[in-house]
Amino acid sequence: MQKQFVQANTQGRLHDAREPSVSPLNRGFLYGDAIYEVWRTYRGVLFAWEEHWERLLRSADALHISLPLGPDGALGELRRTAEAYRKASGDAGELYLRLQVTRGGGSIGLDTGLADEPGYVVLVQPCPQTDPAKARSGLHLSLAADLRRNPAASLNPAWKTGNYLNNILCLREARGRGADEVVILNLEGEVTEAAVSNIAFVRSGILVTPPLAAGILGGITRGLVISTIAAAAGVAVREEPVRPADFASMEECMLLSTTKDITPVASIDDALFEVGPATVAARIKAAFGAYADARAGRSPGLGM
Ligand code: PDD
Repeated sequence: MQKQFVQANTQGRLHDAREPSVSPLNRGFLYGDAIYEVWRTYRGVLFAWEEHWERLLRSADALHISLPLGPDGALGELRRTAEAYRKASGDAGELYLRLQVTRGGGSIGLDTGLADEPGYVVLVQPCPQTDPAKARSGLHLSLAADLRRNPAASLNPAWKTGNYLNNILCLREARGRGADEVVILNLEGEVTEAAVSNIAFVRSGILVTPPLAAGILGGITRGLVISTIAAAAGVAVREEPVRPADFASMEECMLLSTTKDITPVASIDDALFEVGPATVAARIKAAFGAYADARAGRSPGLGM
C-alpha cells in the first residue's frame, strides 16, 4: 500500500504515480531492460545534476539505448514534475527525483530489434530520511551468504540498470536475519557494496573503500567523497580490496549514497565499528553537508 503521494510524469504526462501508465509490453517491466538515475535536492536545489546525467549517458551507451531526452529536456521534465509534486502535496521539503528510461515496448521477445522506441518516467517524492536514531547509533549490516555481486564481465554493476534482482535477493536475505542492510561480496570474496549504497571503512584514520574493479556502481557520493570531500575533512583515502577478514582491523564503516549521504555503520554481523560525533565518518558527513550547501548556493538555477 503506497503511503506517500508520488508525482509521476510519463512521457510528459503528469499524473499520480498510483495510476498505471506504462504498457504491460514495456521491456522495463518484462525484462528490467531499463536504466535510471536518482537525484536529490539540498536547500531545494538539484544536487550533482551533471555527474548523474553523465552516468546516465554511460549506462545508455552500455545498453545501446538512445535516450528519449537531451539534458535540457530532461532537466525541464524534472522541474515540471517537481513543481507538480509541490503543488499537489504542499510539501516544501527536500526531494527525491528519479528518471527511469526503458527501451520501450513491442512484441514479446528478447531481441532488442523488437523494441518500438525508448520512453521515460519521472518520479518525484520526498527525499527519504534515515531514521534519526539509526543515523546516530549506526546501521546493522549482514553479509549476503546465498548470492554474490554479479561480476563486471556479466551485467556490469557500473551500469545503473533497472535490473536489481541480485541486490533485491541479497537484501532480502540480510533483512531475514534482522539486519538493516546487506554487504555483498564478489566472486573473489571481496567486499563490493550494499544493495543501493557504496561502502567505506576507516583503518588507522584512513578512509578505505573498495576500488571500482571490485565490481561496484561508481557512486556519485563515493566519487565526490574520494575526490574532494575527504581531503576537505583532512582524511586520506585509499581504494583497495577489502575482505571480511579485514573487518577486525577497521575502526569504522559507513554507507554512501545520494539518499543516505554518509550514514555510519555500527556492525556487520559480529564485527563492531565505532559510531559517534568524534569519528572520521562524522567529519566526512559534516564536510559533505558543507559541500552540498555551497554547491546549492552556486547553482540557484537548478532550484526545484
Ligand atoms: N542508488 N550502489 C548501488 C548499487 C546503487 O544503486 C547506488 C545508488 C549507489 C550509490 O550511488 P550514488 O551515490 O550515485 O547515489 C551505490 C540510488 C540512490 C537508488 O537506487 O535509489
